[in-house]
Amino acid sequence: MAGKAMKKVSTMLEARPIIVTGASRGVGLELTRQLIASGQSVIGVARHCPKIHASDRFRFIACDLADRDAVMRLIHDLIELRPRGLINNAAIQTEKDWASLSLEEIAAGFAAEIQVDLLAPMHLSYGLLQVIKNAEDGFICNINSALALAPKVSAPAYCAAKAALRNATVSLRGSTRGLTDLLVNETYLPLVDTDMTKGRGRSKISAEAAASAILNGLRRRQTETWVGQTRLLRLLWRLAPSQTSRLLLGA
Ligand SMILES: NC(=O)c1ccc[n+]([C@@H]2O[C@H](COP(=O)([O-])OP(=O)(O)OC[C@H]3O[C@@H](n4cnc5c(N)ncnc54)[C@H](OP(=O)(O)O)[C@@H]3O)[C@@H](O)[C@H]2O)c1
Repeated sequence: MAGKAMKKVSTMLEARPIIVTGASRGVGLELTRQLIASGQSVIGVARHCPKIHASDRFRFIACDLADRDAVMRLIHDLIELRPRGLINNAAIQTEKDWASLSLEEIAAGFAAEIQVDLLAPMHLSYGLLQVIKNAEDGFICNINSALALAPKVSAPAYCAAKAALRNATVSLRGSTRGLTDLLVNETYLPLVDTDMTKGRGRSKISAEAAASAILNGLRRRQTETWVGQTRLLRLLWRLAPSQTSRLLLGA
């Protein structure tokens, strides 16, 4: 890599803190580990503190992202810490036979998923935009899924939230275009071997590989990063959207 480009990468990864939501396990824990190892300071957000070696480069803020008021308080705290990057990684995916549930269960389940998977990332992105937008090599990254393109039957709220997040990301990018050098990245992950996919799916990539792909995309200043098999799905979706949609319905 040329000297100037290398300097840009190391600058991006070392200065003001980067927020990682869902830092306690899975992809978020690996993102946190890899960022800290590269010399970057990280603010991790989740309900549970991650089990990582104590480091003066790491600070944990406990927050239930399903609680809208708690997210508002979190944003106020984060503004004070002057982050330069935000990785909206936390998400929940609840697989159920939704039609068999009571109306109360349906409403509570859908509300929690839409809040964590869609509204919290949007609130964090817009709430922190003024702080992040002028940071050198600032970025906002939303972690997405192929299920944003092709939904499955058992997780309607997750798929709806991820599809909406896709549009919200484009909208956010458009609102800052030409005004700042802010990178608004969206990364699409294939099946990753984490708690979210425990007991289902094959050909999963590791959380380490997923985190590494996310960070590589950010280093390259990509607006979209399609990881592993999502590249093929994206191509199929462009060629034959309705057939592709049917592919994952029973996944
Ligand atoms: N795994 C896959 O196959 C896959 C595929 C495509 C995309 N993705 C995306 O990749 C990202 C990471 O997924 P993952 O597989 O690493 O998931 P995971 O292992 O289930 O971890 C989810 C993370 O989100 C946090 N979280 C969940 N609910 C929360 C809440 N109410 N408040 C605060 N934090 C909360 C969890 O922390 P606490 O429990 O401590 O709160 C945990 O750190 C997600 O955006 C997911 O949609 C995953």
